[in-house]
Order: sequence, then C-alpha cells, then structure tokens
Amino acid sequence: MNADIPVLTIDGPSGSGKGTICALVARELGWHLLDSGALYRLVALGASRHDIDLANEAALAEYAAGLDVCFELQADGSAPRILLEGETVGDAIRTEACGNAASKVAALGSVRESLLQRQRDFQQPPGLVADGRDMGTVVFPQAGVKIFLTASVDERAQRRYKQLKDKGISANLPDLLTEIAERDDRDAQRSVSPLKPAADAVMLDTTSLTIIEVRDKVLGLCRERFEQLRQ
Ligand code: C5P
Repeated sequence: MNADIPVLTIDGPSGSGKGTICALVARELGWHLLDSGALYRLVALGASRHDIDLANEAALAEYAAGLDVCFELQADGSAPRILLEGETVGDAIRTEACGNAASKVAALGSVRESLLQRQRDFQQPPGLVADGRDMGTVVFPQAGVKIFLTASVDERAQRRYKQLKDKGISANLPDLLTEIAERDDRDAQRSVSPLKPAADAVMLDTTSLTIIEVRDKVLGLCRERFEQLRQ
C-alpha cells in the first residue's frame, strides 16, 4: 500500500448506509471511490449471463480474474456508469437476487483472491474511500481511518425497502428482513474474509442518526486523522 495516498475504509452489513455515506464523503473530499460490493455483484451477474454455475469455484475465479468492467466517472459527481463487457449494467446489479448471488460468490476464497489486486489499484491520488466488508481487515489493512457502520436489522431492512422502491424495483419488507438476516449470517460466518470490524476500526451505530449526521462524523474523523486534509 502506498502510504502517501490516504485511504478511508467503511465496512459494515447490508443496508448500514455504507454506499450512501461513502459516495457523500468521497464527493466532499474529492477522493476516488471503491464500491467493492459492485465487483462481487458483477461477477454474480456475469456468471448468470454466461451460465457459470455458482458452485463452480474454478470457473468463477477465472471469470473474476478477467472481469471486463469499467467504472465511468460522471462529471456531475453522480454514481459512476458501470459497463460490463462493454454494456451498461444499470440497476441489474442492484436487485436483492443479485445481492444474494454476490454473497454466495463472495464466500469463495479464490474469487476473492482474483479481485484483490483490482481493488487495491483503486488507491490513487488524492485519496480513496473504500466501501465493503473486508476493506479494513484484508484489502487495506494499513488504511489511516477505518469505520465499521452498523444499524439494527429492522432499520436496515426499512432503508433497503425505501431504496429499492425509489429505484422502481419491487420489494416486500418481510422478505427483505429475512434476506438481509440470511445475508448477514452468510457474510459473517464464511471462513474467508468474514464481515467483521478491524481491531482498530471506529464503530458507528447509525440506527438513529440521519445521513448528514453520519457524514459529518466520518468527515470529522478524517480531518482529525489525515494530515493531508489539514494542509
Ligand atoms: O455491499 P453490497 O450489498 O453491494 O455487497 C454485495 C455482497 O458482496 C455482500 O453481501 C457480500 O457478500 C459481498 N461483499 C464482500 N466483500 C466486500 C463487498 C461485498 O464479500 N468487500
């Protein structure tokens, strides 16, 4: 890891607000953003398009190693356009079905290994905000600020429900609650890179905080800890 390029990692379970907070903080700081969950989602989507069985670890790892993806940054700072094999992906990777398939693919050690360097390559000047499950523990263990976001499972299901509805994706709250609990369990129990806070992570429970309150707490920590932001 290049010690001169600051890295902020934000890990946590589904629906903890990581995606929203990482995007806001990256925009505010003018730093790059790594949405590592999108990579696992893209592997799951590509596997289904190429009829690769989710139980075929070797084929999935090979597909992940050669994943043809492009994150096109948008001039207005909105979410990057993602191209898989040259085609815009849109919301196809944001469905719960794709999230669940991603969490199965993500439990395979060789798939994670195939995506490791690609994730580390996102560390570019002036800095990086990395969103995921193992950013602070495995991918960027030397990161200058590590945050672990949590929220109650009910609150996370409510947030995910609203997010999907806003995107026009149909959703059912009780099903979401069950799926989120199952996904948490699979992510936390897997043997490789399980979802867990790094020993030096700051824990932030967002259950009763607004997005702006969380953003400001995260920015405060960054300004306190990163020398680059004090110059
Ligand atoms: O964060 P998101 O919901 O997009 O992630 C989808 C799935 O990808 C997660 O449930 C998790 O299993 C997996 N993932 C992971 N490690 C990461 C990011 C995501 O295992 N760093």
